Amino acid sequence: MTQTARGWGVTPSTGIPTIAFGNQKGGTGKTTATINSAAALATRGHDVLAIDLDPQADMTKGLGLGPGDDSDPSSPKNDLPNALVTDDANLLDVLVDNPRTHDTALAEIVIEADEYDHLNFDLIPSHKDMGLARDWMDDAKARLSLKLALEEMIADGYEYEYILIDCPPDLSVLTDAAFIAAQNVFLAAQTQATSRDALDDLWDQLESIEDSQQIEIAIVGLLANMYREDGQSRKFLSAFDESFASMAPIFKLPMRVAIQRAWDNGRDIFEWEDPNDQQVERDLFDEVASTMERAFDKAQVEA
Ligand SMILES: Nc1ncnc2c1ncn2[C@@H]1O[C@H](COP(=O)(O)OP(=O)(O)OP(=O)(O)O)[C@@H](O)[C@H]1O
Ligand SMILES: [Mg+2]
Repeated sequence: MTQTARGWGVTPSTGIPTIAFGNQKGGTGKTTATINSAAALATRGHDVLAIDLDPQADMTKGLGLGPGDDSDPSSPKNDLPNALVTDDANLLDVLVDNPRTHDTALAEIVIEADEYDHLNFDLIPSHKDMGLARDWMDDAKARLSLKLALEEMIADGYEYEYILIDCPPDLSVLTDAAFIAAQNVFLAAQTQATSRDALDDLWDQLESIEDSQQIEIAIVGLLANMYREDGQSRKFLSAFDESFASMAPIFKLPMRVAIQRAWDNGRDIFEWEDPNDQQVERDLFDEVASTMERAFDKAQVEA
């Protein structure tokens, strides 16, 4: 793997820039980064598809399309349907050869942005059945399933400019399927000691996928999340700098309550008007989006 290949976006077989947000370490900001990068790209005028590949379904919930909020009758989530419990075909049906639904296509399960006022981009939601994915997707074919499903969707005329995939916190077959389909990874990590080992393991996994699939995988960015201006954070930021700065930009995002409140209310931060200012996080994700445009040589378009 050359530095050049890691440093710029790789266009996968669909021809659409596709980015998997990964880190097997939990709670690092993968879902936050996926939702808000998708929203930032959409705000800059792009057609975006986001895929919630995580059985925890945090992206689907964070866009208000999971369960409502019993504790808060005024929550906007209470007015939206729960995509996680639908009896219709779901993402698991697409990824495994499921006798219940046979060949379900991604196009059948996409929630289009036009369907809801608050959605800035199309969404393939997760589903409660996705918990079975790791048991059912156990062969080489399953690792290719998302790539093949996306190729089919794009060949059928879906004209996305970016596809973003929220990965679960593991190095399971689901995550492999995302890395193979995307060939571009955006890392979300916290500036702490345990992050370095996690990123080393992730690196090994990427190399093993590159060898077995004969593909290149680029790193297109790293979110140093919940960054604090203290010695500990600075120390690990400089370790990230050493490992990644030559190949991908590093974005520092501090702890911001508006991020949590937007998620709690089922909104991305471009849709969510916080009592406190949320310009810091909007600016940051706008910068992430503009970096993605440069990585894939695309210009901002009029929304
Ligand atoms: N910069 C931030 N400021 C405040 N809250 C944040 C920030 N980043 C993430 N969070 C909150 O921290 C929690 C974990 O973030 P998130 O769900 O994005 O991580 P994740 O890596 O996707 O987690 P998992 O590994 O479980 O999928 C969420 O409740 C999210 O709203
Ligand atoms: Mg997540």
